[in-house]
Amino acid sequence: MELHGRLILFTFLHGFLLLCMNTPMESATLPSCNTFGNETDRLALLDLKKRITQDPLHVMSSCNDSLNFCNWVGVTCNRCTKRVVILKLTTQKLAGSLPKSIGNLSHLTGIDLVNNSFAGEIPQEIGRLGSLRSLNLSRNSFGGKIPSNISHCAQLRVLRLSIK
Ligand SMILES: *[C@@H]1O[C@H](CO)[C@@H](O)[C@H](O)[C@H]1NC(C)=O
Ligand SMILES: *[C@@H]1O[C@H](CO)[C@@H](O)[C@H](O)[C@H]1NC(C)=O
Ligand SMILES: *[C@@H]1O[C@H](CO)[C@@H](O)[C@H](O)[C@H]1NC(C)=O
Ligand SMILES: *[C@@H]1O[C@H](CO)[C@@H](O)[C@H](O)[C@H]1NC(C)=O
Ligand SMILES: *[C@@H]1O[C@H](CO)[C@@H](O)[C@H](O)[C@H]1NC(C)=O
Ligand SMILES: *[C@@H]1O[C@H](CO)[C@@H](O)[C@H](O)[C@H]1NC(C)=O
Repeated sequence: MELHGRLILFTFLHGFLLLCMNTPMESATLPSCNTFGNETDRLALLDLKKRITQDPLHVMSSCNDSLNFCNWVGVTCNRCTKRVVILKLTTQKLAGSLPKSIGNLSHLTGIDLVNNSFAGEIPQEIGRLGSLRSLNLSRNSFGGKIPSNISHCAQLRVLRLSIK
């Protein structure tokens, strides 16, 4: 138990250091984190919002510039880099499709859109998400083929695509 606990702590610290390593060490004693987040991520999220055709619960109304996109409903950012790491909008009665620009959310590790009415094809650009570990799109109405480019998601462990 004791060893296990230490290992977890070590892994945590190691991960934290890795995440903040791209901040110049000489400029501050504490790792300085990004304040606003990456514009590319913001534009991709706004693109997704534009593709939503039905939103009876008004979940996407929080996606506006009075809030930083890291605080938008369904969005989780890395606390230091402020890059979007998880997109989770389950059971929100959303209809729409996925924009190609979802492939610009290059730090995503998880997408969970289970139990909505998303339709259309899953864009090939999903293959640009090299950190994606979990893609859970079950209980939607996606059509077409599984994008061949998904083979580039080298970290992918979970792929769920069951339809309604
Ligand atoms: C934002 O992210 C994109 C894609 O990962 C990257 O090319 C760009 O350099 C980033 N911009 C900033 C200001 O970090
Ligand atoms: C932006 O989102 C916030 C948080 O949900 C909300 O309080 C505010 O009314 C929204 N503003 C607009 C212009 O929709
Ligand atoms: C995001 O992705 C789209 C489509 O893949 C691309 O055309 C666009 O230039 C990208 N936008 C930014 C801001 O990186
Ligand atoms: C799926 O969403 C529908 C409403 O759109 C809801 O009635 C149902 O309970 C949800 N199912 C699950 C398993 O959450
Ligand atoms: C397919 O994935 C590769 C590797 O990530 C990427 O370079 C390429 O742009 C993707 N293709 C499309 C159409 O997005
Ligand atoms: C989707 O799959 C991921 C990975 O297995 C899981 O963590 C998540 O709970 C699933 N989402 C739902 C709504 O079941």
